[in-house]
Amino acid sequence: MSVVILDFGSQYSRLIARRIRELNAYSVILPGSATIERIKKEEPQAIIFSGSPKSVFEQGAPMPDPAVYDLGIPILGICYGMQLLARQFRGDVRDAGTRSYGADALVRHDGRLFADLTGSLPVWMSHATTVHRLPDGWTSVAATNNNPHAAMASSDERFVGVQFHPEVVHTPNGARMLSNFLDMAGVPREWTAKRNVERLIQEVRDDVGSDGVLLGVSGGVDSSALALLLAKADVGHEAVFVDHGLLRAGEREEVETALRPLGVNLTTVDAADRFFDALAGVTDPEQKRKIIGREFVNVFRDVAKREGPFRFLAQGTLYPDVIESAGGEGTANIKSHHNVGGLPAELGFELLEPFRTLFKDEVRDVAQLLGLPDEIRLRHPFPGPGLAVRILGEVTRERVDIVRRADDIFITTLRELGAYHQAWQALAVLTPIQSVGVAGDERRYGQVIALRAVTSVDAMTADWARLPYDVLDRAAQRITREIPEVGRVVYDITSKPPGTIEWE
Ligand code: XMP
Repeated sequence: MSVVILDFGSQYSRLIARRIRELNAYSVILPGSATIERIKKEEPQAIIFSGSPKSVFEQGAPMPDPAVYDLGIPILGICYGMQLLARQFRGDVRDAGTRSYGADALVRHDGRLFADLTGSLPVWMSHATTVHRLPDGWTSVAATNNNPHAAMASSDERFVGVQFHPEVVHTPNGARMLSNFLDMAGVPREWTAKRNVERLIQEVRDDVGSDGVLLGVSGGVDSSALALLLAKADVGHEAVFVDHGLLRAGEREEVETALRPLGVNLTTVDAADRFFDALAGVTDPEQKRKIIGREFVNVFRDVAKREGPFRFLAQGTLYPDVIESAGGEGTANIKSHHNVGGLPAELGFELLEPFRTLFKDEVRDVAQLLGLPDEIRLRHPFPGPGLAVRILGEVTRERVDIVRRADDIFITTLRELGAYHQAWQALAVLTPIQSVGVAGDERRYGQVIALRAVTSVDAMTADWARLPYDVLDRAAQRITREIPEVGRVVYDITSKPPGTIEWE
């Protein structure tokens, strides 16, 4: 049972899916071109058409399989989705000439979609096309001052279209509207973290049976939660934590102390020598990532040989990685993100990916119920290749030590001044720059550390965090005082895009 979101390429499709899940209903994103058989597989109780950067007039404008209208379930069309409804039911859609973009307000609204909402309602618009004449038998259920058809519904309200975006925060009552739509479709609200955990435990037991699972633990929330899930499901597992010498200060101890008492069968592999040897003399960022990926595989191969056989390799793959969305097609590979890729085929593992239907925040909820301590559960994300991607130029033990101490000071300062959660992620980067400074009466040539803190929802886009000056001040003072090699600290004010969060 699900709410299917047909994605016509909107930047907001994932947001729609998350909103529906926040309303405790299970949602799935499928490409707008999905066949009716594919859609039926998800047992939809309601369908939402997303927006699109395209216009319904364009050659090759994406259209849903018309059989969706015969499924007998409610459909909500958002923006482009509304225009699709208007077109497919033979209303008149026209190019408005200009693009309406930004805040507007519904001055009139009625019908079940707006149940319990009164007065003028702020809404967020983004469209260049409007519905000029409604399909026969449909009525306008909302209007703005400029648009008499800001929302429309078929006579039985089974099909509803809205010209605005209820899924964005700039439509403050949007969640209520989506909730009303779920009520109109009779969608039960049973998708809760507790149900999720019970379901996940059962699924893991059914899938794994009496076979063995090998799992890489990084100290991040996804793999830690996965390790706890395997422990809770009481299946045979070996969780491997690779200490590649590129971890944050105290990370290894934290992971061990958090997971072992909760029943995780955890082995820490000391592999720093192997990683540093392989990285010696390498400065190219992609090359570094490839080497680190390869060494992870080597470590796992050794463990598998020694401790195996394992039928499964568990990975903390999340829903955003597997969404079959229109937006996902042809997305450029900006960086070769590292997980233990390549390993399954080579060693004959089958992949076990229990979180493949979950968003990050849902994994955090699951992790909480499984007992993962908050220090790990709510910690900033950390990349698999570790501090290596925060060191521009060669990765040596000495340089890792500098960036690790700088990172520790920055993070400690954020915590001390209560600003840790103002940033989605915060980090220190060791640049290859030497800069002139003074120490005592002497000119001195010191290294430059860049601090970076960003706000983000899912790392796809990010903005630099407007941290309080006293945080930056205290961090900079401590770093230059306590790390003699560092002579200068700068703060990175690049958003993503065009920058990425990490520097390499
Ligand atoms: P970028 O730098 O691409 O990073 O904006 C987005 C998010 O992903 C993390 N990151 C990685 N995580 N393996 C990981 O597990 C990687 O190779 C990797 N590279 C970047 C990064 O820390 C940020 O949270």
